[in-house]
Amino acid sequence: MVGELERVELAEALRARARERVLVLDADPAVRSSIAYFLNHRETPAEAASSAEDALQRLAGGGFFLLITETLPPGIPGLELLSLVRARHPEVDVVFTAGSLEIAFALRAVREGALDFLRKPFELDELAHAVRRARERRELLLRALAAEKLAERSRLTDEHVRDAIAALAAMIDAKSRFTRSHSERVASYSARLASALGLAPELVQRVRFGGRIHDIGKIGTPDAILEKPGPLTPEEWVEMRRHPAIGAECLRGMGILQPYLPMVELHHENWDGSGYPFGLSAEETPLEARIVKIADYYDAITSRRPYREPLALGKAIDYLRAERGRLLDPDLTQLFIEIGPERVLRDRARRRSPEFEMARERGGA
Ligand SMILES: [Fe+2]
Ligand SMILES: [Fe+2]
Repeated sequence: MVGELERVELAEALRARARERVLVLDADPAVRSSIAYFLNHRETPAEAASSAEDALQRLAGGGFFLLITETLPPGIPGLELLSLVRARHPEVDVVFTAGSLEIAFALRAVREGALDFLRKPFELDELAHAVRRARERRELLLRALAAEKLAERSRLTDEHVRDAIAALAAMIDAKSRFTRSHSERVASYSARLASALGLAPELVQRVRFGGRIHDIGKIGTPDAILEKPGPLTPEEWVEMRRHPAIGAECLRGMGILQPYLPMVELHHENWDGSGYPFGLSAEETPLEARIVKIADYYDAITSRRPYREPLALGKAIDYLRAERGRLLDPDLTQLFIEIGPERVLRDRARRRSPEFEMARERGGA
């Protein structure tokens, strides 16, 4: 998909191309000026040059897309002029005009990149056709360049996002072992739910990364609270509940991470509006944050805490059902139950097993 910026750039390049000119080189002043006159009337700006040196000088000034020259222009033989033009101005095509054309010349000229030949005297339609061909070729070239630039730009952005997510994930991992494994599981659950929902692969990836860094704000939560081997006091809860806002602050200055902000800032909003930090309800909370919310909730109730045992699978599913429409998005939660969250971890473990890695290396998985 071509972005707005690229569209503007391409349009600008095409507009610039529309202003580009044709250079006509012929020893005969009547011939060169009548060709230039005809082209100018066809809304293709054209200039005339009287010798090869004159032509090279004008080309060096830029703004041309085509040189129409006789095969033996004054100054430099045609083939030599062709190779000079191709080397110095690869964006300029060359069309030869000749009274009679030697096959050997034509073959060499084509090999060295000439676009076309016009046998003198030629019809004006033939001339117009050659100019049109050069224009089309130029347009294709510009489009290919724009597409290449776009691909390069999105590749660089993807790499920057990956690097930034990896850096944030490393910060979470350094904070505590508990947050690390929690973040990794939330990433897996979130990605599976997003893909079951039929989201595009790049959105599934975004949700996976969002799940991985959703608790980044906990780097600002005191260890004594994070690692407390018992239930939190009301004051400690207040401190704990600051982590979405702290996480949002971490991300705000990083332009490329803005798509991840809702998952960091809003993963503790509840469907019924009773969550924090804003008390958003239902679909006021963006979809990706509602997905991470379910993954986060499920992982919290199925994980061991120093002060309580994890819930067994059947019990955890009962909790999910009970929270549909209260804490959790009812439809998304139903889908999550249907996926079978226990399968997600099993699949993840299988993907990480040495057998799987070997199979993947062999292209088998
Ligand atoms: Fe959280
Ligand atoms: Fe969490």
